[in-house]
Amino acid sequence: DKKHIGIFVGSLRKEAFSKKIAEQLIALSPENLTLEIIPIGQLALYNQDFDDHDEAPENYKEFRESVKKLDACIFVTPEYNRGVPAVLKNAIDVASRPGGKGVWGKKPGAVISSSPGMLGGFGANHHLRQSLTSVNIYTMQQPEIYLSQIGKAFDENGKLDERTTEYLKKFMTAFVDWCTIFWK
Ligand code: FNR
Repeated sequence: DKKHIGIFVGSLRKEAFSKKIAEQLIALSPENLTLEIIPIGQLALYNQDFDDHDEAPENYKEFRESVKKLDACIFVTPEYNRGVPAVLKNAIDVASRPGGKGVWGKKPGAVISSSPGMLGGFGANHHLRQSLTSVNIYTMQQPEIYLSQIGKAFDENGKLDERTTEYLKKFMTAFVDWCTIFWK
């Protein structure tokens, strides 16, 4: 039975580099794994009253169930003002609640950040790792992936350059190794 890895993309932009990176990961994934982007843009801003008064939106329930079923999580994110974009932080918060019933815990995970700029989303990458520690995702330490100048990595047909493709392949191999520690 195939292990199922969810990819969470920290951008809702139609042409998001983050989404294109996620799609490359899916294309590069080994056959014995299922990789899938888990949508997060439909989730209302988290309000604790939803859970305290048992009024959570129906799609919160669906989202929490889909996260719960995953065997591992990959987060592909841009950097907004040196931190994690709100849409991704919101998704993490939604599936971390109700208190004591969070669904992230004990899953292996990894972070990929990118930016058209030079810093590769370093700030967002580590800001995200801070929250993943709180929800008890076992976040892979190495290799760290900060994709800088990401705009230059895709050609006009949307093809990713060889250097970045090789980099993502190495990432996938390392991540599967990391996951097997926890899947035993
Ligand atoms: C940005 N951008 C940005 N880039 C960066 O390297 N560091 C940053 O702190 C920020 N801050 C920031 C804030 C906001 C609100 C926006 C909209 C953008 C630029 C960002 O990296 C660029 O728009 C990327 O293309 C966004 O990622 P996607 O949508 O291509 O995945």
